[in-house]
Amino acid sequence: MQKQLKELEEKKALARLGGGEKRIEKQHAKGKLTARERISLLLDEGSFEELDMLVRHRSSDFGLDKQKFYSDGVITGFGSINGRLVYVFSQDFTVFGGSLSETHAEKICKIMDLAMQNGAPVIGLNDSGGARIQEGVVSLGGYADIFYRNVQASGVIPQISLVMGPCAGGAVYSPAMTDFIMMVEQTSYMFVTGPNVVKTVTHEEVSSEELGGAQTHASKSGVTHFACANEVECINQLKQLLSYIPQNCEEQAPMFPYQPKENERREQLMNIIPDNPNQPYDMREVIEGIADDNSFLEVHKDFAENIVVGFARIAGRSVGIVANQPAMLAGVLDINSSRKGARFVRFCDAFNVPLLVLVDVPGFLPGTDQEWNGIIANGAKLLYAFSEATVPKVTVITRKAYGGAYDVMNSKHIGADLNFAWPTAEIAVMGAKGASEIIFKREIAEADDPEAKLQEKVDEYTEKFANPYRAAERGFIDKVIHPAETRIKLINAFKMLENKVLNLPKKKHGNIPL
Ligand code: HXC
Repeated sequence: MQKQLKELEEKKALARLGGGEKRIEKQHAKGKLTARERISLLLDEGSFEELDMLVRHRSSDFGLDKQKFYSDGVITGFGSINGRLVYVFSQDFTVFGGSLSETHAEKICKIMDLAMQNGAPVIGLNDSGGARIQEGVVSLGGYADIFYRNVQASGVIPQISLVMGPCAGGAVYSPAMTDFIMMVEQTSYMFVTGPNVVKTVTHEEVSSEELGGAQTHASKSGVTHFACANEVECINQLKQLLSYIPQNCEEQAPMFPYQPKENERREQLMNIIPDNPNQPYDMREVIEGIADDNSFLEVHKDFAENIVVGFARIAGRSVGIVANQPAMLAGVLDINSSRKGARFVRFCDAFNVPLLVLVDVPGFLPGTDQEWNGIIANGAKLLYAFSEATVPKVTVITRKAYGGAYDVMNSKHIGADLNFAWPTAEIAVMGAKGASEIIFKREIAEADDPEAKLQEKVDEYTEKFANPYRAAERGFIDKVIHPAETRIKLINAFKMLENKVLNLPKKKHGNIPL
């Protein structure tokens, strides 16, 4: 027995060494942790159960038969994060650059299958040179096996990708099909073709970081939801993110212990909206005034900043917030903000996270750029996502809710459960000036003093429509509320809606305007 145990220990020790000391040093020199170091930061101490540690590849071409490493470039298994089960794979760059072989793919598929069967999130730590070049099509097949599982698992269990090194070629499509991507600044990148191919094809000179680094994808493409300063921050951010979401689509997000305060009024909400309706303010201040202290986790922070999305807790309950941001482009809806909002709404709906929508929107952004790039189809995504969502949905209109954007931003008409408005709300087809110029065009033109006439009509329109009362008369707004009481109203609303059941008509699946 001792002999056999020694043999096992020797094999395990070899596996733990991955590609060897030299390559581990190289990894550290790049400012990167190893696959195993990442796992130990990620999981609760002592909770990791590794599977397939002794798997080796089966290839022999190009001298591969002489280079066999245990674990074959990916560490897989299960463990817990804050006591909750997760499945994890962590690619080991020290073994063939973390490249994906047939067996490497089989290991990932095995834990994805287990995660699906047992209803817990899959977390992928990606650090890979892509397909194992020596294996050819077998490796491509392995990727496709993973892609297929990503799609089957979508909306069933949360899937989160931490990109902590290279991720290029078709390999980017697995993270792209997961729910959230997190990247690390300076050490990770994602692109379909790298700088050399780009130079050959388009003659553009661009660095890896500029082409597909964390900042690029966080702000320009929106591919990544989080850009983190380093790997430790990235892992901590992931843990925070998991705290808002359930294990699978059948469960609710964990309820955090909450000690109700004697007075939940938040007077600071009284001082946010400027007197001048054209002046911006930061919607994050409204969120802070509504959510439990320090509970807001913003998602997609640097992308399409005219809409703010993220998770927060209200009296311990997890909610997904979608909010127009008047501090950026007056909070207008455009292509990117619609896409960003829609994607977030669909995640929340898939995983039973109630939605809180804060509205201050002047409408959709006009212009050839927007029209030619498809604001119609993209704006429709947000409309579709809200209309389709069956989770509890609550809206608060703080100021403007104009035109089609009023309908889109979780209006009563598309299935919102409770719609509140502050007394400062302006709910109308368009702003008073634009409206007056159209409907009183002739009257203004014929007036002795057209300027004065216009102002008179603007005042008249403002008086009539720049308020929440027309909508409240119809029941489109359930209640006009005192801003300081918003948090109280929302605590009560989400509590009231906690057992909501709404079933969509039977169908195979809808056809969201992609
Ligand atoms: C096999 C690979 C590999 C790969 C790297 N290595 N990529 N082995 N298949 N795809 C090995 C190297 O031979 C080296 O082995 C070790 O990993 C580290 O690589 P280095 O080049 O020394 O590291 P670095 O300088 O940091 O550069 C990393 C890199 C580069 C940028 C990822 O290795 C690279 O460009 N690799 C090829 C990337 C690529 O073209 N992949 C295929 C893309 S197509 P030793 O023994 O020296 O440690 C694709 C299709 C997927 O992935 C399609 C899915 C549908």
